[in-house]
Formats: sequence, C-alpha cells, structure tokens
Amino acid sequence: MTNRTVTTTITAAIRAALLTADPRAKAMAARGVARDWRLGRLAPACAATMPDYPARPALPELLPPNRMPKRGRGGSERGRIALLHSLAHIEFVAIDLALDMAGRFGRARGPGFISDWLSVAADEAMHFSLVDRRLHTLGSFYGALPAHDGLWDAARETAHDVAARLAVVPMVLEARGLDVTPVMIERFAAAGDTRSARILTRILDDEINHVRFGTTHFETVCEERGESAPQLWKMLVEKHFRGQLKPPFNDSARHAAGLSRLSASALAI
Ligand SMILES: [Fe+2]
Ligand SMILES: [Fe+2]
Repeated sequence: MTNRTVTTTITAAIRAALLTADPRAKAMAARGVARDWRLGRLAPACAATMPDYPARPALPELLPPNRMPKRGRGGSERGRIALLHSLAHIEFVAIDLALDMAGRFGRARGPGFISDWLSVAADEAMHFSLVDRRLHTLGSFYGALPAHDGLWDAARETAHDVAARLAVVPMVLEARGLDVTPVMIERFAAAGDTRSARILTRILDDEINHVRFGTTHFETVCEERGESAPQLWKMLVEKHFRGQLKPPFNDSARHAAGLSRLSASALAI
C-alpha cells in the first residue's frame, strides 16, 4: 500500500465531519474519516478543539422530550415508521457521539482509542443508512417526523472528562440499547416486518461491541488513576446521568459487553 499524501490531521477531519449537517453527507464523512485513518492518510491528533454542538440538518424538527408525540407500540405501519424514525435519529446522533469521543479525547488517549471510536462512528453511520433506507422503502424518510432534542445533553455534561463520557455514553446509553432492542426486534417480527427485524439484529450485534469498547477503555482509565472501576462508574453515573437505570436488563448482551465485571450492586443505582 502506498501511503497517500497526508494533507490534514485526524482532529481536523473529525471536526469537519461533526460540522457536516446533511445526514447522508455526515454518514459518508464519518465512514471516510474512519477509512482514511485506517489507511494512514491522516496526520496524528493535534490540539484543534471539537465544536460544542455538531451541525444539524433543518429537519427533523427537534423537540424537548416532553413535547414528543407519543409513539405507538410498533404494530401498525405508522407505528413502525415512528419507531424506525426515532431509531434513525438515535443512530444519527450516535455518529457524532463516536466522532466526538475520538476527536475530543483521542489526543490524550492515543491511536488505539481513536481507531476504536472511529470504527464505532463508521458502524453508526452504517446503522443510520440502513434505517434511513428502510424508512424510504416504507414511504418515509429521516426528517419526516419530529425528533428528541436531548440526545446531545450527555455529551455536553461529560465533555470535561473521558471517564465520565465513557461511563455515561457507551456504558449507560448504548447499554440501554442492548436492553430494549430485543423487544423491538420481536415487535417488528410479530408485525411480519422481517426486513426491519434483521436490521435491528445487526445493530444489536454491533452495539455489544460498542459497549465493550466503552467498558474496556473505562477500566484502563480507572487503572491509570488507581480507582476502582465499579465505584468510579457508580459515582460518575449518579453525578452525570439524569435518567434511571431500570431493569429488565439484557444480561447476556451486557455480559458479552463486559458490563457484568461491574458488580450487580453497582448496576442497581
Ligand atoms: Fe448504532
Ligand atoms: Fe453504538
């Protein structure tokens, strides 16, 4: 492989992807950054800063959580489209969350950390594209419905500390995805929508990996700081996560993601 001319830094490339508003362009940019980094086409991380807020398209309209219309249970086609639309939005924001993780903390954490979170960003871009394409097949599109405006809050709340970011974003929010996705898969399958059920199964497999990256990097940070991982995790989640951690938990997926290394008592907060 010839090493192409290195024209920009990884930090600048990530920043440019975060500041891309158009959903499909952002998904392409995220996959492009991950590929260019893998192929050695980007110079090492530098001191450039990440934006406080990534760029967002004009649609979907973003509403505070309490103004979001109630979603059906996913049985009717309208209900399934609403569910897929909310999933598309989660995946879209997840692209930025993974990019921001790599861009904001990568310089301090090193190239392995950057590679892991850029591979997550590329997965999230793929998830977004799969769900967006599915919405088109069903006669809708990402942007057709309003979406939840609280998903970036966790990033803002944890921008100061990689341990807090890892504790909340992959280890709570993405882990919550592991718990709720099997129920959604069943709902789509029961409605005869096997195509959507297959997409969700693929997403669930990838998400186990994302949570595992979160757990592994969190444990490394704890080791370096001489902290107990379960104790620090509990403290950071209590401090920075506003929601509730409530069962049922997807125990086998959480185990595969390494979360069971944190004691059961740490989970029950
Ligand atoms: Fe995802
Ligand atoms: Fe993810």
